[in-house]
Amino acid sequence: MNSQAASLLVIFGATGDLGQRMLLPSLHSLERDGLLPESLQILCCARSNLDREAFHAQVAESITRRTPPQDRSEDSVQRLLARVDYLPVDLEDQESINRLTRLVTERRTGEVLFHLSTAPRWYGHVCAALGAAGLTGPGTRVMMEKPIGHDFASSVGINDAVATTFDEGRIYRVDHYLGKEGVQNLLALRFGNALFEPLWNARHIEQVQITVAETVGVEGRAGYYDESGAMRDMVQNHLLQLLCLTAMEPPSRFDPSAVRNEKIKVLRSLRPIQGADIATHSVSGQYSAGAVDSVAVPGYIEELGAPSRTETFVGLRAHIDNWRWSGVPFYLRTGKRMARRCSEICLQFRAVPHSIFANGGARVEPNALVIHLQPEEHISLHLMNKAPGLDRGGLRLSQVALDLDLDDAFEDVRRRGAYERLYIDAIEGNSTLFVRRDEVETAWHWVDEILSGWRNNEHGPKRYQAGTWGPSSAVTLTERYGHSWRE
Ligand code: BG6
Repeated sequence: MNSQAASLLVIFGATGDLGQRMLLPSLHSLERDGLLPESLQILCCARSNLDREAFHAQVAESITRRTPPQDRSEDSVQRLLARVDYLPVDLEDQESINRLTRLVTERRTGEVLFHLSTAPRWYGHVCAALGAAGLTGPGTRVMMEKPIGHDFASSVGINDAVATTFDEGRIYRVDHYLGKEGVQNLLALRFGNALFEPLWNARHIEQVQITVAETVGVEGRAGYYDESGAMRDMVQNHLLQLLCLTAMEPPSRFDPSAVRNEKIKVLRSLRPIQGADIATHSVSGQYSAGAVDSVAVPGYIEELGAPSRTETFVGLRAHIDNWRWSGVPFYLRTGKRMARRCSEICLQFRAVPHSIFANGGARVEPNALVIHLQPEEHISLHLMNKAPGLDRGGLRLSQVALDLDLDDAFEDVRRRGAYERLYIDAIEGNSTLFVRRDEVETAWHWVDEILSGWRNNEHGPKRYQAGTWGPSSAVTLTERYGHSWRE
């Protein structure tokens, strides 16, 4: 782990959607609370020919749009802007690279963090240009946004290109789900409590469901999205990271090697979904027109304005072939324009071995632990209880949840956005919550096999109406095995 905090943060692609929507507003929140190192300078770069004032105006407007009034002030915005400079950069132009080199050399007083928020096909090129300009080497590190590639082969290409200038210990691959409070709380819940570990295995758990459902459509990113689809955009990264944190063995320490060594074992134990399993273990869908939150919305093809076979929904039945999880299905699903926004992990326990209440007709439902990640963070443990009454015909049972609302429990503590956490860690040189090369490539390898199975199937994604939980085949995916999605 690097111990010295960065003195200069250089963001490439700073005028882009992510930069304006998430990165600069997150840096503002850190600035407001005095969490950025005092000497940190921020150099924002992009192709647009803006001067410092014009860029500052853009940043101030983004902060105003993205930050509630009570969480910003003229002073906090000005303090951030005082650190921020803008440089138009064209990496095809040597004179432009020379200007960048001069500025970085002048401004750095210690370590440098480069943040690549451009299209990933540029990553290798940016790193090569930085290397040739002598801007890499000890005391520098690089943070990169997803997606790292489009498939296994292209991810290896990008990783190889970046590796020619930065060794793995200095590369910080972002999966912003790892920066979310709720996701880190999954680690706290599993490894900060002795209660769950004895039950966290195939002997006691019947099935696991991981859902990341969104109500938004493609949000003006149709060009990118149509090339990607839900499998590349969400499953390859966010859902598989959630799966790793849910299924991994206890790491010996909370540090980059220990945590990532356990995650990679999960990815390597994923059973390939191929051949006949493609039909029974995977579902792809695409939304048609419908209504979300009672508002009519167009279908994907209408939004795109062209015919497309890109999936906006994925459902999978995955298996982890190791001792802990042998025989336990992990159902994964994610989709756009679904019935409601919700990200959650549900572990359903096995039924009691024998019900003493069966004669009275009472049904004993299996227990479930549900970790709700968003929009609210709470944890609920569903337990059977006696329903009140005299029950002369036999005890009546009802399932009631023990609910832990984290927003309530920590109501005086500010919840940090994912990028606040990730920036602080990258600035301070802690890569525990970043993704290692072997994770990215192993995840691509698993996902590629399913995509290739889909390509060979001429039917393409099944339609589902916007505002629902996906195509009907998603229901069959679980019900064929006697399970049903939690809704
Ligand atoms: C991004 C995807 O990585 O995650 C988007 O590219 C998706 O398509 C987003 O909408 C979801 O993130 P969050 O934090 O809103 O759940």
